[in-house]
Amino acid sequence: MELIRVKDYEEMSAKACELVKELMNTVQSPVLGLATGSTPEGLYEKLIHTYENGAISFSNTKTFNLDEYVGLTKEDPNSYHYYMTEKLFKHVDLKEGNAHLPDGAAEDKSQACEDYERLIKSAGAIDLQLLGLGMNGHIGFNEPGTDFKSRTHIVTLDESTRQANARFFNSMDEVPTEAITMGIQSIMEARRVVLLVSGEKKAEALASLVNGEVTETFPASILQQHSDAVIIADEGACSQLR
Ligand code: F6R
Repeated sequence: MELIRVKDYEEMSAKACELVKELMNTVQSPVLGLATGSTPEGLYEKLIHTYENGAISFSNTKTFNLDEYVGLTKEDPNSYHYYMTEKLFKHVDLKEGNAHLPDGAAEDKSQACEDYERLIKSAGAIDLQLLGLGMNGHIGFNEPGTDFKSRTHIVTLDESTRQANARFFNSMDEVPTEAITMGIQSIMEARRVVLLVSGEKKAEALASLVNGEVTETFPASILQQHSDAVIIADEGACSQLR
């Protein structure tokens, strides 16, 4: 793992943008793995500016998001489909059919998981997978205890994850209890993973990831075994590193 220490959220987003831009300008048909949540918002703003300045184009890019809530339609403002449309897709020249998220509204959810894995495979492999870090060590929605061999699957969200994400909903009751997420194995098959971590509230989790043992009870620890894992973390996030 390579750890890039930066000053703050702004620098973290700028560094991540640089890595994505470099990939998009070297690979002919890039495949990007995307994340939602608060952490990548600054990166998405910077990617939009970079696109507007003519320095990147998404016209040959395919994207695969990590996860989606079960039970929310694409139009639901709390769905990750909606988030991605608002924060990135509608502002750039990504072709609609090239943007993929798990189908949380599918009637047959197991089939939706299998279909998603097949789609990723048919794109070749993910060139760069962006990740955020859950305070409990989750990546995607792979909660503590998830099998390292897991592929896209349905998960029951941890109560702590539901509480952490409740800020986006009107009330706790509205926060979904399940999600479809790419599995740990699906994430590990990406050629490069880039984990963004910002703020003191993530410091303990980052310290466990960097200094702790590799264990399924802390899913992100598996990144220690990835051959090209880059962590971009700001001062707050690095404050508990040994
Ligand atoms: C989002 C995702 C999650 C988040 C993580 C951190 O697609 O898969 O693992 O990356 O929960 O969320 P934020 O960035 O909101 O702190």
